[in-house]
Amino acid sequence: MLDIKIQPVEVKKEKPDQNKLGFGNYFTDHMFMMNYTESKGWHDARIVPYQNISLDPAAMVFHYAQEMFEGLKAYKAPDGRVLLFRPDMNIKRMNNTNRRLCIPQLDPDEVLQAIKAIVSYEKDWIPTLEGTSLYIRPFIIATDAHLGVHVAKNYLFCIILSPVGSYYPEGINPVKIYVETEYVRAVKGGTGFAKVGGNYASSLIGQQKAEQLGYAQVLWLDGIHRKYIDEVGAMNVFFVIDGEVITPALDEGNILPGVTRDSCISMLKSWGVKVTERKLSIDEVIEANANGKLNEAFGTGTAAVISPIGELNNNGEKIILNGGKIGPISQKLYDTLTGTQWGKLEDKFGWTVTVK
Ligand code: COI
Repeated sequence: MLDIKIQPVEVKKEKPDQNKLGFGNYFTDHMFMMNYTESKGWHDARIVPYQNISLDPAAMVFHYAQEMFEGLKAYKAPDGRVLLFRPDMNIKRMNNTNRRLCIPQLDPDEVLQAIKAIVSYEKDWIPTLEGTSLYIRPFIIATDAHLGVHVAKNYLFCIILSPVGSYYPEGINPVKIYVETEYVRAVKGGTGFAKVGGNYASSLIGQQKAEQLGYAQVLWLDGIHRKYIDEVGAMNVFFVIDGEVITPALDEGNILPGVTRDSCISMLKSWGVKVTERKLSIDEVIEANANGKLNEAFGTGTAAVISPIGELNNNGEKIILNGGKIGPISQKLYDTLTGTQWGKLEDKFGWTVTVK
């Protein structure tokens, strides 16, 4: 058990208008912090006013990107309970990422305690408007002042909180996705399965190109054959072909094992829908479309929730999915997932965890 010290802020901020939250624009009054040193391990757990972090310019995170992050959400149920969604999955993934980045392991019970403590302390910040939530962003950075390329010995673990609306301005309306054929996001043996800032840094050039062309995000193809679908910028991806739901398999280690992805697979199976995790090439998607068998496609993610895909641009060829409208499977997944997360539907899988 962590002994979490609390230092309250002197003047609280004004809460933002819940209709204009967007994603990641506002931050709550307090944050969680904890340090790691070789001699003490993880120590000095504290809730402090949200503040700038002062680091030596030689801090290793600035140079060699030894950094990891996570993303989960807290929701306020109609009965006033504060709910987390499958935090155990994020915490497990956190330690998998840490292992890949040589960051010290965390005690899963202590991470859950820290998340619950900061969320509970900031519960007045959880927005209640439909489609909103409190996004929880844990992250760890290497803080040693050192320019040799080695594993750091000192780390800082923080949790910040951001009241959010939908990730895309489109909300639940279909987004347009650009198939990236020049750059790649991950290769087998790399960090594709890990939640590290570096994956997103190298994705920016594709994202920028997509945005300039009027697309919301990039669809990444595998780094070797350049034809198998990996994932979309901030989401895992699913295609419905001839009634079968297909999503890229995780076994090559180049796809983020999304919590929403896993939840969608479980929900679909429980409804008797055929779901397959396997390699899926962009050519197969194009062919399915040409044969009139591409029913719908959607992305999944904590930030993105369920995001229908209305258009795919593959080398200038535009594929319009389901007439550019949300498909029935995407809609049912969205309704069931968010209904469970917001505590409005029966939690059939026992996924929600009550903070208080
Ligand atoms: C999330 O869905 O929580 C993510 O971390 C995606 C993100 C990069 C916004």
